[in-house]
Amino acid sequence: MSNHEESNPLGLSAVFGDQAEPLPLFNLWYEEAGRSEPNDPSAFALATADASGKPNVRMLLLKGASEGGFAFYTNMNSRKAEELRENPHASMCFHWKHLRRQIRISGSVKPVSDAEADAYFASRDHDSRVGAWASLQSSSMACRAELQQRLAELQAKHPEGSAVPRPPHWSGWWLNPGQIEFWLHGDHRLHERLLYKKIGDGWERSILYP
Ligand SMILES: Cc1cc2nc3c(=O)[nH]c(=O)nc-3n(C[C@H](O)[C@H](O)[C@H](O)COP(=O)(O)O)c2cc1C
Repeated sequence: MSNHEESNPLGLSAVFGDQAEPLPLFNLWYEEAGRSEPNDPSAFALATADASGKPNVRMLLLKGASEGGFAFYTNMNSRKAEELRENPHASMCFHWKHLRRQIRISGSVKPVSDAEADAYFASRDHDSRVGAWASLQSSSMACRAELQQRLAELQAKHPEGSAVPRPPHWSGWWLNPGQIEFWLHGDHRLHERLLYKKIGDGWERSILYP
């Protein structure tokens, strides 16, 4: 059966499956993206807004997907972290060019636990851990040499092979989804869209015009 043959009561292509909940479909599309995209299949755009509602967007990497939400890690002094503290709502958008698919997720955010942040930080390579200490993400610097100087000092303090603790300003967030929309390219811009909305403990499914 081709991907685009109908396979469910909503009349969508088979790639949408017929799941009552969105996470299995997210996992399936994510695995397929891992096989089809040349790099960064975990990359997504994260939209935040400040307290006055002004929006801001940037790319991040997904580091966890479960019933509890979608996880990402960053510098907690960065602009995005400031915005998430002011307004704990966000939206993420994945786009996989080869698959011609998009997934959009929105909801509220909460910080990951210290244990979760420690575990992910420990999985990063040594230089990335040192880099997390060196970067004052989103602050301005006088010139690039300032960063190189900080990096050299921190590399001397934490030589290759030594333990690098997680910086207090480095952690992550879980986005707890209220809505997840799956989008598939269609000919003549007649795309297919499947929306899951969280209602109480369950999910309501609907399809949207392109
Ligand atoms: C593909 C890609 C992946 C990225 N992943 C991350 C990430 O996981 N965490 C992060 O803090 N920044 C990541 N960045 C950098 C961010 O886009 C951004 O420049 C940085 O986090 C500062 O954003 P802010 O000033 O809005 O806080 C990534 C950039 C790209 C292009």
